[in-house]
Amino acid sequence: MDFTLTSEQEMIRDMVRDFAEKHIRPVAAQLDENKEFPHENLKKMADLGLMGMNVPVKYGGSEVGAVAYSLAVTEIAKACASHAVTTAVTNMVAEVIYEFASDALKEKHIPKLCNGHYPAGAFAITEPHTGSDAANIRAMAVVDGDSFVLNGRKSLITSGEQAGVVVVWAVTDRTARKGKGISAFLVEQGTSGFVIGKAETKMGHRASSMHELVFDNCRIPRECLLGQEGDGFKIAMVELDGGRIGIASLAIGVGSAAIEYATQYVKEREAFGQKLSRFQAIQWMIADSYTELEAAQLLTLRAASLKESGQGFTKEASMAKLLATETAKEVALRSVQMLGGYGYTTEYPVERYLRDIIGTTLYEGTSEVQRIVISREILGR
Ligand code: CAA
Repeated sequence: MDFTLTSEQEMIRDMVRDFAEKHIRPVAAQLDENKEFPHENLKKMADLGLMGMNVPVKYGGSEVGAVAYSLAVTEIAKACASHAVTTAVTNMVAEVIYEFASDALKEKHIPKLCNGHYPAGAFAITEPHTGSDAANIRAMAVVDGDSFVLNGRKSLITSGEQAGVVVVWAVTDRTARKGKGISAFLVEQGTSGFVIGKAETKMGHRASSMHELVFDNCRIPRECLLGQEGDGFKIAMVELDGGRIGIASLAIGVGSAAIEYATQYVKEREAFGQKLSRFQAIQWMIADSYTELEAAQLLTLRAASLKESGQGFTKEASMAKLLATETAKEVALRSVQMLGGYGYTTEYPVERYLRDIIGTTLYEGTSEVQRIVISREILGR
């Protein structure tokens, strides 16, 4: 078993680390405080090839593979979770379009996602009454001539306001059994009847936006259907498998940033006449945190590697997301503890890391959903 990264993967990781240190980290706290979407940095990141990392060069992607993508998201997240989640969702949307849209739609939208013409993409499946039970959506799309007419509400949609294009799930056959009558569509920003609803105020990821989306007799051309009618739920599940690698990678970045900061702090801060780093209680927190994060990253890179080589990775992606997000949450909590009272103030970044990490245990399937996926993969349905 070879754990060595290729020189291209190392180069991408180092390039993203360098960019994040220079351009993202210095503004992360301020953007979080102002709840300000990082338009400028995202455009620069698109110019670096970070918005279509798993789509072909032909469509403007960088096609560097899932392992390099995972490494890149981790480096971005070390500097700012909001930049990272926006990047992860935009990459996921580029992939859905590449895998399921017509050639014309691929040519129309993927280059704009990759080159930053669209500030982001969005993935709209969740509704006010249903999140984890994704097959239970109620938005409806009805055929009318050569269009579908879409009605319904989507909630908690990351980048819903900024997305140039949104993947939207709706029921197209009410009589079909659960999960079989759902279809997926591409809806462009600015389409008549597509309205941006209320903004959510979040605990973390505050420089990324989250909105309700309202579809009120929104007419979309038939060719905006992804895959076949009724394929929508499977499309969502397949894409979320890949998305979960992104969120796991993000969590590893946030957890690493937290423990790296806290480790530096305890090497300088003194109590009872010696550096905090001399206390075994602190040393063990550091040892556990680095060990657990490394384990989570190995699992995440393994899921990414399976994806990259075209093998099944549903179980591994869910295991990676579950372990990485729950581990990073513990690590961020320990990091606050290591800074003591200062860790609880906004003077230091660890409170932001803790707020940011909570979202990763919820996005793209809660930890409980990951356990459902993993246990079904082991036990069968
Ligand atoms: N790949 C391919 N097919 C899959 C699949 C996968 N990973 N998972 C399920 N399917 C198929 C099943 O085989 C089944 O098909 P058949 O009936 O033909 O056998 C069909 O899909 C239905 O599957 P289930 O019976 O497992 O469906 P379920 O209703 O029991 O739900 C669930 C399973 C795992 C809980 C699913 O609903 C789920 O993942 N929920 C979480 C939703 C989620 O992650 N939402 C996140 C929103 S997006 C987001 O957060 C992005 C953002 O903005 C940051």
